[in-house]
Order: sequence, then structure tokens, then C-alpha cells
Amino acid sequence: MSKMQPVLHETRTFKPSEAFVNQANLSSADIYRALCSEAAEDYLGFWQKLARKYIYWWKPFTRVLDESNPPFFKWFDDGELNVSFNCLDRHLISHPDKVAIIFEADDGKITQSTYQDLYVRVCQFANGLRSLNVKKGDLVIIYMPMSIEAVIAMQACARIGAIHSVVFGGFSSKSLLERIIDTNAVIIITADEQIRGGRVVPLKRVVDEALAMGGDESIKFVVVYQRTGGAVQWHISRDIWWGDLIAEKSNFCEPEWVNAEHPLFILYTSGSTGKPKGVQHASGGYLLGAMVSMQWIFDYKSTDIFWCTADVGWITGHTYVAYGPLAMGATQIIFEGIPTYPNAGRFWNIIQNHKVTIFYTAPTAIRSLIKLGPDLPNQYDLSSLRLLGSVGEPINSEAWMWYYTTVGQSRCPIVDTWWQTETGCHMIAPLPGVTPLKPGSCAFPLPGIMAAIVDEMGQDTVNGQGGLLVIKRPFPSLARTIWGDAERFKGTYFPKNLGGQYYLAGDSAVLDLDGYFWIMGRIDDVLNVSGHRLGTMEIESVLAAHPLVSEAAVVGKYHDIKGEAVVAFVVLKGVCPQAEDAQRITVDLRNWVSKEIGPFAKPDEIRFGDNLPKTRSGKVMRRLLRALARGEEITQDISTLENSLILEQLK
Ligand code: WT7
Repeated sequence: MSKMQPVLHETRTFKPSEAFVNQANLSSADIYRALCSEAAEDYLGFWQKLARKYIYWWKPFTRVLDESNPPFFKWFDDGELNVSFNCLDRHLISHPDKVAIIFEADDGKITQSTYQDLYVRVCQFANGLRSLNVKKGDLVIIYMPMSIEAVIAMQACARIGAIHSVVFGGFSSKSLLERIIDTNAVIIITADEQIRGGRVVPLKRVVDEALAMGGDESIKFVVVYQRTGGAVQWHISRDIWWGDLIAEKSNFCEPEWVNAEHPLFILYTSGSTGKPKGVQHASGGYLLGAMVSMQWIFDYKSTDIFWCTADVGWITGHTYVAYGPLAMGATQIIFEGIPTYPNAGRFWNIIQNHKVTIFYTAPTAIRSLIKLGPDLPNQYDLSSLRLLGSVGEPINSEAWMWYYTTVGQSRCPIVDTWWQTETGCHMIAPLPGVTPLKPGSCAFPLPGIMAAIVDEMGQDTVNGQGGLLVIKRPFPSLARTIWGDAERFKGTYFPKNLGGQYYLAGDSAVLDLDGYFWIMGRIDDVLNVSGHRLGTMEIESVLAAHPLVSEAAVVGKYHDIKGEAVVAFVVLKGVCPQAEDAQRITVDLRNWVSKEIGPFAKPDEIRFGDNLPKTRSGKVMRRLLRALARGEEITQDISTLENSLILEQLK
């Protein structure tokens, strides 16, 4: 752990204003401490109380936690609920006409949907899915643009007990195929095309490609939402327009009451092997985490206009677009486009026009907007904002300060929220009405989340020392397994060296002397590129599958906007290419990665060599490659290096 140089020199703290504290859902350190001791003294009682308070149970649970088969924990597992009922039906009595979603299209066109309207559309679509014989437990892949319809598709699955797996629209047909095969999905819901930043991206065509490559074995139907009206190929026996599917479908769809442990969704994320993991969440525990974190961390009020900019293809878009805000009965913004179109003021314009009060985005977006228009926010009226949030990677103090002063006008607390696809909701984050903020720190664990930092033997570290970030007790929103690979779930997240008890997050972190958590980065071969998780092995195996490539190694390198950029070291089958050849092959390989995984995984840089630096036993020396990529001087011991001349070539 000595390589970690803790960033503990940040001494500034920012307290919430009196005005914020006075209106906050949790408003004093005493309340926070009381919640924490309640959880410490009666862990199950603590969660039981919250689960009863927040969720509508069709059949109330009597058991809180089943720990009989660790690490496959079950929560509230004799209770029954329906997540879509909790997100929609519940609001029909108190506020049917409240706007649930304000959709702003890429071109600025605005569409709204009230709770009543959304409920009807979800019911019709759910009835449509049932008419295609989709049943409880069936898998549905959703490959959609940011839209009200994407949320309807997810909610409709939840309504009938089907398990959705949303695939981000930036993934290639190969990645889509991989997920179709792994889930054995029966239906894909997609759109003809999507529009981002004025550019049209075909989605249906990518689906067609994936199905032509072999995904058609399990897939019975493709439901196509018409977004642009662009030309699409049509397979009469398989393809159905969204509009035709819901035509004459009833406005009422009896929800499927499912067990609290019934899978709600599977979402793929990268790990340290070549194969993405299908992270599977359960219905009850996940919904509880989404709701409680809306209340505590986003300080949600019924008058808020909530905007989380994440795509529904990522966990953030699941928890804080498709489920959390709706379960709380919020009004939220869904934005189709990109922050820089038609200009770098787009986000500020949206905040101004819709009077957004809570704004949640990623450091990479903040950094790119600083670069393109540090003063732009001043041209807009951002006075509606009362709370800002950050997620996806550690936020550097420069970006934090700009976000705080220029966007939040020194009025809005920033909640820097640490969590993961696997944890389902916020785990470590400031309570905005309580916690004095330190730029770059995600502050303290939520009440009931037993986060800690331990060494490789599972022993607590001394503050200031750094170590592995773990969560010591199971919590309701934790993923239940990796789809089809329970052993991998166990081995990855509950390793034996930590006693098999602690959830290992895969991040290193350090506590400062005040007990604030600082996240240092991943401990595995996983990169964080623009807040997206990318496995180096995944990119390596794709590169190695290219006909010209013999071997490849991928590492990360600091990037001022993306956080990390992908650098690939490649050995070709023939001779090491020079000048123009190297350039041509670089373009070729970048396109290859884009086609195999998706454009966001493209290496920024490719370097060719006759070989990779290896130890005598044949292990690629990644640390050396990282130093090379970063242009650092090589200080480490290279006496075990088989072929030291290779270093010069790869420089
Ligand atoms: C990894 C999880 C959870 C939503 C988005 C990413 C990094 C996430 C923070 C933060 C420092 C963060 C961690 C984590 N990360 N949020 N506030 N501060 N690091 O979800 O793709 O599952 O990635 O993102 O490294 O392990 P994900």
C-alpha cells in the first residue's frame, strides 16, 4: 500500500448555509449520529424500519435478512411488492397531474409526461409485452436512446416481473450480442435511430447486426420505438413498431407481485477479466436504497426539479433516473443530447429553463465544460439550483471549486457520491445539510453502511494510512450475484483473504484524520474513462483478436478531461510497423475496438514494439508499461526484465 500517496493536504471545508440547513431533510450532526448508532445497535431493526416506511408491500415481510448462505444474502425475502407500482400507482391518488418527466430532445423540443400519463403508458406497454408472451422472469434487453420511452420500457418490465438488461446505446453490435447470449433474452426493445449533438446514430441497424451474428436464437421479437422515422430494415415476423404494440392495449395492467428477492435487472459492467459481469439486483433492497438515498443525500423535496444527466445505460441512470426519482414522486428532467450541443451552455440553459433545483453530473462533464466556457454559467440564471452532485470518479479540487463557486454560486452543497454498479445506490457521500465538505472527499458512509478501510488481511488501517475499501456488513441494495456465475461473484467481491465476510469494492481509499473518506482509484486492472468502467483485459482481448495483432497490453494514462485515457502497447504478427504503416494500422485498430466494444473504448494512443516487456516467467510488466505511457522515468527494478532493449522502442 506504500505506493498510495494520500491526498490529505486539502484543508478547506465548506459548511452548508443556515438557509440550507433549515430546510434539510437531515439537518444536524446529532441526527446523523443517532441514525448511525441506531444502525450499529440494531442493524436489522434499522433496515426493517426503513423498508416499512418507504416501500409499499403487497405482502409485508416478516424476515429482514437471511444470512444462511453467505455471500448470497436475502433481504425482506418473504415480502412481496412491485417496483413499478411503487414508482407509479402510489402517486395517482396524491398527485396524478404532477409532471413526472420533462423530456428535452436534442433539438430542444420539450415533451412532458405526468404521473397519470406515465402510468397509462407503462400499463399499455406492459400489456404489449404480455401480448408477446413475455412472462415473469423472462429477460428483456433494452437498447434505447435517452427518452421517456426508455423509462417506460424499464418500468413495464418491472410491472410484469420481467428482468431488464439495459445496454448503453454506445455499445457495438458485438457487445450487444455478448449480452444477448449471456442473458438468453427473449425480446429487444430499441429505437430506429438516436440523435445526439445533431448526429444520427442507427440503433435498429446495430440490433439487426447482432441478431444476424447469432443473437437470433433466443430473441423472438424486436420492438422498435420510432424516434426519427429514418429508414430501417424490417423483418416482418420479428419486428414490431412500439406504436403498433400498444395500439388498443388496456390502460390497466395488473402488476405482477413478486418476491422482494425477485431479480429487477441485470446490468453489465467491466471487471478484471475479458468478460463483462452481469450484475444482478433484487427488487426490494434495490428500491429501498434508491429511495433512502434520494431522501438523505439528494435531500429530496416534493417541490424539486431533479436532473441526473446519466444515461439509463449505466447504473446511475437506473437508480437516479428510472427508479429513485419516480419512486419518490419527483419531477425530473431527461435530456437526449450532449452537454456541448448546440453550444457549451446547453446544461446551464436547461437548468435555467426548467428551474432545476438538484443537478447531478460527472466530473468529466464538469472538466470539459470548464475548458469550453469557464464563464458561461454566469450568462444564465442558475438561481433555482440548491444542491449539486458528482459521481463516477474522484472530483479534482479545481473542478470541485469551479462547480461550487461558478455553477452553485457558493450557495449549493456538493454531494460527491461514491458508489458502484454493484452497490445499487450511494454508499459514501456527504449529508448536504450536515457534513462540512472537503473538495475531493466523498465524506462519510450513509447511516447503515459499514464502510471501512482495511489491509490485505482484512485488518482496519490507521487513519491516514490507506488500504482497501470494504463494506463490512451486507446491505439491502447490494447486488445479489453475477448472472450465471455465482462463483465469480463470491470470489470477486467476498475474497477469502478478507475472511469472506467483507464486500470488497475494488477501490483503494484512505481516511483522513477527521475520518473523511478519500477514494484513490481502482486496485484491479480496471480503468475509469470519463466515469465509465473499462477493463484493460477486455480491450486487450479485442485487440489480440485482430488478424494483424499477436499480442497487446492496455494501461491507463492521466487525461485532463476523461480522467483516464486508454493506451495500448501492441505487437504485430509481422515486423514492427514504421511511420505511415504504423499510422494506418493505428486507425485500423482504433476502429476495430470501436466496432468490437464501442467508440468510448477506443485507445487514445497505440504504440508498437517487437515485444512487450516481460519477466523471465513471461508475465507482462504492467507497471513498466504504465510508467512508459505516462512518460515517467523508469525507476523500478528492471533486472527481472527479459528484454530490456524493448523499453527504448516502446518509449
Ligand atoms: C467505480 C464504480 C456509481 C456510478 C458511476 C460509476 C468510481 C464512482 C466515485 C466517486 C471516486 C468514484 C470508483 C468505483 N467512482 N463514484 N464519487 N469518487 N470514485 O459506476 O461503473 O460501477 O464504477 O467508479 O472507482 O469503484 P461504476
